[in-house]
Amino acid sequence: MNDKPALSNLAAIDAAHHLHPFSDMKELNARGTRIIERAEGVFIYDSTGRKYLDAFAGLWCVNVGYGRKSIAEAAYRQMQELPYYNSFFGTTTPPATLLAQKIASHAGDRLKRVFFTNSGSEATDTWFRMARVYWKALGKPGKTEVIARRNGYHGSTVAGASLGGMKLMHEQGNLPIEGIHHIGQPYWYAEGGDLSPAEFGLKAARELEAKIEELGDDRVAAFVAEPIQGAGGVIIPPETYWPEIARICKAKNILLVVDEVICGFGRLGEWFGHQHYGVEPDLAPIAKGLSSGYLPIGGVLVSDRVADVMVGELGDFYHGFTYSGHPVSAAAALENIRIIEEEGLVERVRDDIGPYFAKAWKSLEDHAVVGEAESVGLMGGLQLSPDKATRRRYAKPDDAGILVRNHCLENGLVMRATADRMLASPALTISRAEVDEVVEKLRKALDHLRDTVKE
Ligand SMILES: Cc1ncc(COP(=O)(O)O)c(C=O)c1O
Repeated sequence: MNDKPALSNLAAIDAAHHLHPFSDMKELNARGTRIIERAEGVFIYDSTGRKYLDAFAGLWCVNVGYGRKSIAEAAYRQMQELPYYNSFFGTTTPPATLLAQKIASHAGDRLKRVFFTNSGSEATDTWFRMARVYWKALGKPGKTEVIARRNGYHGSTVAGASLGGMKLMHEQGNLPIEGIHHIGQPYWYAEGGDLSPAEFGLKAARELEAKIEELGDDRVAAFVAEPIQGAGGVIIPPETYWPEIARICKAKNILLVVDEVICGFGRLGEWFGHQHYGVEPDLAPIAKGLSSGYLPIGGVLVSDRVADVMVGELGDFYHGFTYSGHPVSAAAALENIRIIEEEGLVERVRDDIGPYFAKAWKSLEDHAVVGEAESVGLMGGLQLSPDKATRRRYAKPDDAGILVRNHCLENGLVMRATADRMLASPALTISRAEVDEVVEKLRKALDHLRDTVKE
């Protein structure tokens, strides 16, 4: 399997044949791609033998950490027994059915059903269609419009990129598609002005009310948001935000869709992010931590409100994927969830490592170039700022973030930057010593920013 001659040449082969997601290929080919060969725990190793602490759990997904043999074995066993069968024409497979039951067991009283997909993006497309189908089945075919947020992220399919509020994505491919509208985000540091965080949280939430009134209640199907905006920069909303959003959705009779793709499966110290914020979604896309990224799988958690229509008068829902509920992915996900349960990882994040991480992360606020360092569970966002008293931003926010990110990388720490925010989302198994290492290395990178960029 390890064809060494080919491996030594892998960067050149990659440049010749492999188009990477979210990458400037010209720039990447000139620089050469890093080749990650193996991983264990929270560490990844590249082809030069360098070791990095992955403070990002791959792409917010490797919740149980790398190197879990029991997940590999569960997948292997399933592959030998039944590598594939679909769930289209009146059939299912044991892992798909048992996984739906297992997910529902952690999702509270109202979210009892799951529609499987292969990714978070497909989950977005799925709930988007479901929301419209739901209202049509209830005799309200005019309720089609969906409201999302600027700087939100819901995937990269056409519906996903449209619902996301990323301008650069919209510019490629004439997006958003029709029927999608965006309101502001609860990003107090950058947009809160003179308001307190609590006041700003209410103001940001009430943009939803205003948008629904502008479009008309009878035209709006749903509102979607991530509990904490991930790709947008780990934007943690003020405490006033979510209760007001929930109130408005209820008062205006629109579906509340909470995107749990990142926040689900323990990241915020609850099984799902909406449980942390005490709100009840009608639909909730999931992926990532569902299998800890060991195999691709996603889905949509469906509340009784919507499911009653789907299993009631709807008839066929003309939607699905060849690999919806893939038995091997489902078997891996079941073992992943078994590990989360057995090791008490959700409770560990809530009661132990989450608070430890919060304290260590917060300690960076004493640094001259840190505006704020906030976290919930094991999801941290750190605002770079040349002047915290006035909450001033760097003149070139992207450059500031990249400088810090690259310094971390050179020192064996994988962090992500979104503009001038540094993002952390490590495996739920990270140790206290490893948290200390993240903070120590990040602090050095912040020193580097302070000493390099004078504003
Ligand atoms: C909140 C959220 N929703 C949806 C997605 C899309 O998931 P995927 O990349 O699996 O399609 C992502 C991916 O990062 C995400 O962060």
